[in-house]
Amino acid sequence: MRYSQSTPSLFAGLSYIINVAQAQTGYGPPPAATCGAANASVDLAWYPPVKSEINSLPAVLNGSGVYGFIFNSSQGPLDTYNWCNMPHTNPTTYPKVNDSSYKLEYVEVIHRHHKRTPYAANTFPVESYAWECSDEALFFGGKPINPYGNSSASTYWDVYSSPSNPLVPEGFNGTCQFPQITRGGLDDSHQHGVDLKAVYSTMLGFIPEHYDSKVVSYRVSNNVITSQVASMLIAGMYPSRANRDTPLLTQPDSIDSLAPGYTCDTSGALFGSYGSGSDSPAWLAHINSSATLYANLDRISGVSPNASDWHMSFDHYFDNLSARLCHAKALPCSIANTTDCVSMSQADEVFRLGEYEYSFIYRDNNQSLPASVSSYGIWVAELAQNIRHAMGDGSSSVSNATAVRYRHNVAHDGSISRLLSILQIERMVWPGMGSEVVFELYKKETCYFLRVLWGGQILTSSHPALGRMDMVPIETVLAYFDGLVGVGASKIPGLCQTPECDVDGEGCA
Ligand SMILES: *[C@@H]1O[C@H](CO)[C@@H](O)[C@H](O)[C@H]1NC(C)=O
Ligand SMILES: *[C@@H]1O[C@H](CO)[C@@H](O)[C@H](O)[C@H]1NC(C)=O
Ligand SMILES: *[C@@H]1O[C@H](CO)[C@@H](O)[C@H](O)[C@H]1NC(C)=O
Ligand SMILES: *[C@@H]1O[C@H](CO)[C@@H](O)[C@H](O)[C@H]1NC(C)=O
Ligand SMILES: *[C@@H]1O[C@H](CO)[C@@H](O)[C@H](O)[C@H]1NC(C)=O
Ligand SMILES: *[C@@H]1O[C@H](CO)[C@@H](O)[C@H](O)[C@H]1NC(C)=O
Ligand SMILES: *[C@@H]1O[C@H](CO)[C@@H](O)[C@H](O)[C@H]1NC(C)=O
Ligand SMILES: *[C@@H]1O[C@H](CO)[C@@H](O)[C@H](O)[C@H]1NC(C)=O
Ligand SMILES: *[C@@H]1O[C@H](CO)[C@@H](O)[C@H](O)[C@H]1NC(C)=O
Ligand SMILES: *[C@@H]1O[C@H](CO)[C@@H](O)[C@H](O)[C@H]1NC(C)=O
Ligand SMILES: *[C@@H]1O[C@H](CO)[C@@H](O)[C@H](O)[C@H]1NC(C)=O
Ligand SMILES: *[C@@H]1O[C@H](CO)[C@@H](O)[C@H](O)[C@H]1NC(C)=O
Repeated sequence: MRYSQSTPSLFAGLSYIINVAQAQTGYGPPPAATCGAANASVDLAWYPPVKSEINSLPAVLNGSGVYGFIFNSSQGPLDTYNWCNMPHTNPTTYPKVNDSSYKLEYVEVIHRHHKRTPYAANTFPVESYAWECSDEALFFGGKPINPYGNSSASTYWDVYSSPSNPLVPEGFNGTCQFPQITRGGLDDSHQHGVDLKAVYSTMLGFIPEHYDSKVVSYRVSNNVITSQVASMLIAGMYPSRANRDTPLLTQPDSIDSLAPGYTCDTSGALFGSYGSGSDSPAWLAHINSSATLYANLDRISGVSPNASDWHMSFDHYFDNLSARLCHAKALPCSIANTTDCVSMSQADEVFRLGEYEYSFIYRDNNQSLPASVSSYGIWVAELAQNIRHAMGDGSSSVSNATAVRYRHNVAHDGSISRLLSILQIERMVWPGMGSEVVFELYKKETCYFLRVLWGGQILTSSHPALGRMDMVPIETVLAYFDGLVGVGASKIPGLCQTPECDVDGEGCA
């Protein structure tokens, strides 16, 4: 069943420049499902992604538009890349498993938070308009539990500026935090929950109709925007949770594996050796070729051409421009000359360059795999432990969570990017708002299999042992994960301390 159909692609509009690359990456027949019979041994090498317009620099620089991707609305076709609200698992596009001998045993979902205001660091020195968030409230408070004591008020933050405070805020004037999930992002989060519930409860009967904390579990990062998403998403899945106390798992900030928040010098050194901020020629090629675009953007925005964080990658301009478009706000104009504005074609060029950067950082460079493994390996080890637990092998990654069969993680683009890097996705993009990866563990007779969905469709990996990740024998996946990160992430502390570039003698440059 693995190769019998062509599923709708997330990138329907994307044409391939070098189609043969796919054949060259070694897609063989699926590993034989001789579960338990053979020792799974999987090679741990990096395999290049397919070559497409996204990761071909001449096409990026010389192109127009953004491959049919959507940047200006949360609404759009369910099979099309939409930066504002990426495709996710839903009843209309869910690839139903046709062979009823496969029984779903465990599901783990991870997705990026939904759309938000920009980070303050990505806002221009002076903004020409304000951004209001008075159509929503962000609740913060405390309340005694275990055992409950007196009740607390549901308190929320009301952002304001004082006439006696002469300082100009970083970012926009107005009533928002930079960042915060916007009203539109809260609505998207709610719909995301509704859609997942419709598949895993209504369609498949896998999770109960009513919330049961022993069966479903939610996890967030230390960045409050993921909690903002979770609060709406949970009420989307379980309307009866509205205004009810609901736990969100979170790890201590300094060691959080989800964001990720833990320190990993090796990863930083590796990413820094070839990616954003590096002086590697492969990285600088697209920066140097974009001098005219940068000059125009700097003139209009008032960002200093010397501001290195704006010029070592397109991250800031990308966030700055896309956040406006996702919220139906105008592209910015110069404060000094109100007819000198960022054009749609300039914004599109920024978006193409941003997509190119994510493919380069997380897939095209052969150091992307060790860089991602060291900085995201702990989450992968936790996933592997949860899968083993679901197969009756040991405890889960959360104590006292023996019956949980649906885990849900709300994370960031840095989380999803590293995960896609480790899975060696064949076509890397910048994971937009709400970008989702779902791991589904199935049992057939005595054997277990993993299916991986990206944007609600079966993910294809460039790694020949993973390939189209539709019922991959679990031994193969676990051998790959264990080989890279170790059971219990035992390899990660060592990997994080010893820069690989020191070990292999190639140097970090
Ligand atoms: C297969 O795995 C088992 C248990 O881990 C081990 O005892 C055996 O030596 C392995 N066989 C081969 C051929 O590697
Ligand atoms: C860019 O496109 C033009 C016109 O389509 C073409 O003449 C030129 O060779 C292209 N340049 C690159 C670097 O691909
Ligand atoms: C969004 O962008 C597309 C392509 O650039 C354009 O055709 C469409 O009109 C835009 N929609 C809105 C609501 O601005
Ligand atoms: C199940 O069968 C239907 C109808 O043939 C097909 O459209 C669908 O893609 C199949 N699902 C999977 C996961 O192969
Ligand atoms: C874009 O950047 C400008 C310049 O730093 C800043 O003033 C503005 O707030 C940013 N806007 C967004 C949406 O990030
Ligand atoms: C933002 O507020 C500052 C003072 O707080 C004011 O000087 C500036 O004009 C305001 N900008 C806009 C676009 O309203
Ligand atoms: C509730 O508050 C009152 C007044 O402070 C206090 O006397 C009482 O002990 C509190 N009850 C609980 C259960 O903490
Ligand atoms: C990019 O420009 C910098 C500064 O002008 C220069 O030092 C570097 O050699 C250039 N690199 C490439 C790959 O063009
Ligand atoms: C950029 O830095 C150079 C050298 O430090 C300085 O001469 C120049 O004025 C700076 N330009 C801006 C726009 O700040
Ligand atoms: C203002 O910007 C427009 C559009 O870029 C340009 O044509 C015009 O010359 C500029 N005016 C001044 C005074 O710089
Ligand atoms: C990684 O790529 C670089 C540049 O193409 C090459 O010199 C190096 O040998 C490669 N390293 C590995 C481990 O493949
Ligand atoms: C959680 O597990 C610990 C250790 O196994 C046990 O002592 C405790 O009672 C459990 N708590 C709950 C709420 O089940």
